[in-house]
Amino acid sequence: MPQIIDGKAISMQIKDELKEEVARMHEVGINPCLAVIQVGADPASCVYVRNKKKACAYIGIESRAFELGEETTQEELIALIQKLNSDEGVHGILVQLPVPKHIDEDKIIQSIAPEKDVDGFHPVSVGNLCIGEKGFVSCTPAGIIQLLKRSDIKIEGKECVVIGRSNIVGKPMSILLLRENGTVTICHSRTKNLAEVTRRADILIVAIGKKQLITKEYVKDGAVVIDVGMHRDENNKLCGDVDFEDVSEIVSAITPVPGGVGPMTIAMLMNNCVEAARK
Ligand code: GUN
Repeated sequence: MPQIIDGKAISMQIKDELKEEVARMHEVGINPCLAVIQVGADPASCVYVRNKKKACAYIGIESRAFELGEETTQEELIALIQKLNSDEGVHGILVQLPVPKHIDEDKIIQSIAPEKDVDGFHPVSVGNLCIGEKGFVSCTPAGIIQLLKRSDIKIEGKECVVIGRSNIVGKPMSILLLRENGTVTICHSRTKNLAEVTRRADILIVAIGKKQLITKEYVKDGAVVIDVGMHRDENNKLCGDVDFEDVSEIVSAITPVPGGVGPMTIAMLMNNCVEAARK
């Protein structure tokens, strides 16, 4: 049996650490506050936003919800963000993605003040990550680094293969692994002989967005596999990008879906909010 990397337990540990820190902040008059903006009522976004608010409440972070109608204009949304940028009582600003099609996502991200960019999506945050300066880091990849570290899995000198090159996961993940002195390869939809590349990995991070695509043919014996995917299988059960049962036969450690990477994303968002308030 491989080591099952318990994201639920590790995220709880992080949230409890943050809860203690926030209690100390309250004692000295600092009240961490996150503004959560949602435009429209995308069902998946509603679930994510609800979970973020719940995590804030657990830790003692104030959350201010802005639920805007689908017809909200880009100008109106930017005006709200600018107001929150200059509100000293708000430490973090999060715009739940996706936004409706008539709104330019990049323009919205760029209108958030980098010091309140708790999602780590602003070009300034991404630039800081790339040059090794301090700044907010995208929550899912930051959570994966915590999963590895808190499971005593060494990254330094390891062959790390990331499948997926999105701005939210694949690219920042690769930079973070590099920062930890891993040897990093990024694969994507145009990669030739994918299995040949992924079989080199000591640590394989899978963020392709295709249900149970990764079987043991893609994985080296004894590898560590991190599954970022989230889908429903034919029985409506949650599953990932990795065929968990199949791959489990040969790996040394693996994240389950649910209960692996998912809970870490919110824990790291909370971490970024506390960091924003600390500053
Ligand atoms: N939509 C899907 N994932 C995310 C995330 O991490 N942050 C935001 N703001 N929107 C998302």
